[in-house]
Amino acid sequence: MSIPLSELADGYTVPRIITGTWQISKGHQAPRSRAEIFESFFRAIDSGITVFDCADIYTGIEEMLGDFLRECRQREGSAYADQIRIHTKFVPDLEALSTLDKVYVEKIIDRSLRRLGVERLDLVQFSWWSYDIDRWIETAGWIEELRQKGKIRQIGATNFHLESLRSMIDAGIPVRTHQIQYSALDHRPENGMVEYCRDNGIGIFCYGTLAGGFLSENYLGTSDSFEKLKNRSLVKYRLIIDEYGGWGRFQKLLKEMDQIARQHGATIAQVALRYALDRPGVTAAIVGVSKAERVSQIAKAFDLTLDDSQREIIHALGRTAPGLNGSVYGLEREKNSRHAAIMKYGLNRENLS
Ligand SMILES: NC(=O)c1ccc[n+]([C@@H]2O[C@H](COP(=O)([O-])OP(=O)(O)OC[C@H]3O[C@@H](n4cnc5c(N)ncnc54)[C@H](OP(=O)(O)O)[C@@H]3O)[C@@H](O)[C@H]2O)c1
Repeated sequence: MSIPLSELADGYTVPRIITGTWQISKGHQAPRSRAEIFESFFRAIDSGITVFDCADIYTGIEEMLGDFLRECRQREGSAYADQIRIHTKFVPDLEALSTLDKVYVEKIIDRSLRRLGVERLDLVQFSWWSYDIDRWIETAGWIEELRQKGKIRQIGATNFHLESLRSMIDAGIPVRTHQIQYSALDHRPENGMVEYCRDNGIGIFCYGTLAGGFLSENYLGTSDSFEKLKNRSLVKYRLIIDEYGGWGRFQKLLKEMDQIARQHGATIAQVALRYALDRPGVTAAIVGVSKAERVSQIAKAFDLTLDDSQREIIHALGRTAPGLNGSVYGLEREKNSRHAAIMKYGLNRENLS
């Protein structure tokens, strides 16, 4: 089945699955060859997954996607380049938040344009590390000015809590999308965010739907091990599993999902993805796929229909997760929390040439 589309404001359509690229950024995990990565990108586009999610702080990725776009244009008779859309992020460094100005914002946006080799960015998802520095509305206003100048097509947000998202909307910033963690493990968006986004025409792009790969057969029945985690996203989601109630409770979820998967001749990853896509308000799921064979596995989530009772089994376990009952990104923002300690807050400084 080809990937269904969702329509956002202003007629902007996106496939319901978006290719995530954090996993292939420098420093995330053992590097994969460029040929292998491009092969998976082509496979994604052939399956209808024509949108790629990246960020100014995913080291090397905007440049790689720029090269990929050029390669697409060079393929004779190829329509690849016309189909592709790239969603990036603007993630100003924590230490820059109190002093940044319009020039800083434009410099970073211009750098994304240069790296990608495009004249306009399709979507810029704005992130703000600390609400202690009360300047995100002013900064969003400068992004909006750049949109009006034609450098940006759409504005999105990522990891905002409800009040701060509302403050931008109330200030007239046309935020069209919100990228947040939302999965069988993490139901925090259901504490008001889903409703707010629905009421204000904001599409939700969810990440964490596979919990970095934890929501798959690979971890069913395995023992817990922090030491053997092979990349940064597994570290991130292992902490989420603790908040979910720990390894034992997570295994209970995997067993339930495995039973559901077997009833459909599907995999746990497909059930996890289908579940997330079925949550109200979810426009698309961003999935970290960098191997060609994964693309077809992921696309099969659309061949699967979960019934209400199956969804309810997963939902009931998730909604009662003891540590995941607060706001979107609340734990990650808590100073000195384990979640905050694994973040890198200064990657734009490293990359700003
Ligand atoms: N805004 C934010 O703060 C934020 C945070 C996190 C992520 N994101 C975005 O979301 C994207 C996805 O990241 P995520 O954290 O949500 O990761 P995810 O999609 O939950 O998990 C990705 C991992 O799942 C594994 N996987 C893929 N298909 C699978 C399958 N069929 N069976 C088993 N495992 C499978 C892949 O492992 P293999 O490598 O083995 O294939 C991959 O490393 C990122 O690339 C990024 O673009 C944004």
